Amino acid sequence: MAKNENLSSAKNAKNDEFYTQYADIQKEVNAYLEYNPDVFRGKTVLLPCDDPEWSNFTKFFAQNFENFGLKKLISTSYAIESKNYKSDWQPTLFETENPIFNADKSRVKGKIFILDHDTNQNGKIDIDDLEWNYMEGDGDFRSPEVKKLRDEADVIVTNPPFSLFREFMAWIMEAEKSFLILGNMNAISYKEIFPLIKQNKIWLGIVSGVKEYKRPNGESQKMGNTNWFTNLDHGRRHQPIQLMTMADNIKFSKHDEIRGKNYRHYENYDAIDIPYTDAIPSDFEGNMGVPITFLDKYCPEQFEIIGHPHGDYGLEIGLTPFPKYLKKLNKGLRNGDLYYLDNEGNPILPYRRILIRKKQ
Ligand SMILES: C[S@@+](CC[C@H](N)C(=O)[O-])C[C@H]1O[C@@H](n2cnc3c(N)ncnc32)[C@H](O)[C@@H]1O
Repeated sequence: MAKNENLSSAKNAKNDEFYTQYADIQKEVNAYLEYNPDVFRGKTVLLPCDDPEWSNFTKFFAQNFENFGLKKLISTSYAIESKNYKSDWQPTLFETENPIFNADKSRVKGKIFILDHDTNQNGKIDIDDLEWNYMEGDGDFRSPEVKKLRDEADVIVTNPPFSLFREFMAWIMEAEKSFLILGNMNAISYKEIFPLIKQNKIWLGIVSGVKEYKRPNGESQKMGNTNWFTNLDHGRRHQPIQLMTMADNIKFSKHDEIRGKNYRHYENYDAIDIPYTDAIPSDFEGNMGVPITFLDKYCPEQFEIIGHPHGDYGLEIGLTPFPKYLKKLNKGLRNGDLYYLDNEGNPILPYRRILIRKKQ
């Protein structure tokens, strides 16, 4: 199965059980700390889809509690009976050997883990000081119980269930919290997400493409197309992309589509097509359609985002519909998608563009 199909079948089957690797979390979080060493200082961090027995988010933040200067770490887990995917789950010794273990609650209640002081009094606050209990409910992030924890938190960090990504993002945004979460790159096109990207309220993280996760049985799960989404500032997004002028691109570009040719102008919108982010001409003042992967390098001081020219969104930002003669030739053409004509007059629909222009 292709990687992207893997993701969509994970979504369709509501199979959200795959775990993020420690090194991927470490790489990403360290980059925010480099930009702002106090990013977590004095803050309450909530990990709302994270069972510490499995989650490397919990391990990572607990291990670094003092390093990061955290005030409080809260991690909540979702009850096995509420999950769509039931692995051959058994409570761990960590749970069963604890005096509060309750076999009935174990399957149907979420668990809450809190770290905020040196419980074992060994002079440092770390993972061994985590205190836990069963929750009143199943730990669903949408429950009033977890909402209350969200409201208490300053920063929300996790890899949420991909099948509930829209809801999860809305849940964060309604409480106006800082966040760092993983999601499918396709989420960029969601009508709930793209406007937030356009308004610079959320952006992509630093390490683009987390490629490998772990299944509950420890096997690797490859995922193409997943990325970090955040509203925590980082250095990369303030570094302008280094670009050549249009004349230099046409003379020296490494891309055959550009070198010795002209940039194509769309037929249904006043913009030129840029097939590669590194082929954006530094001196072009008009609108440009760029691959969606541009967002990995997007610097809001250098460019502004005009819109997402696909289907209804395309029509909203003024793309003119396909003329009748083209619709007759190809019934699959969808109004609101960008196109240009090749030398034979056939419509070419470039793959997944967003429209940008240079910041004035
Ligand atoms: C993609 S996994 C990631 C787990 C963990 N955050 C990590 O990165 O290793 C998403 C987790 O969210 C849990 N989950 C699914 N629906 C949930 C809900 N409504 N509320 C809270 N957690 C949920 C799933 O059972 C799964 O364990």
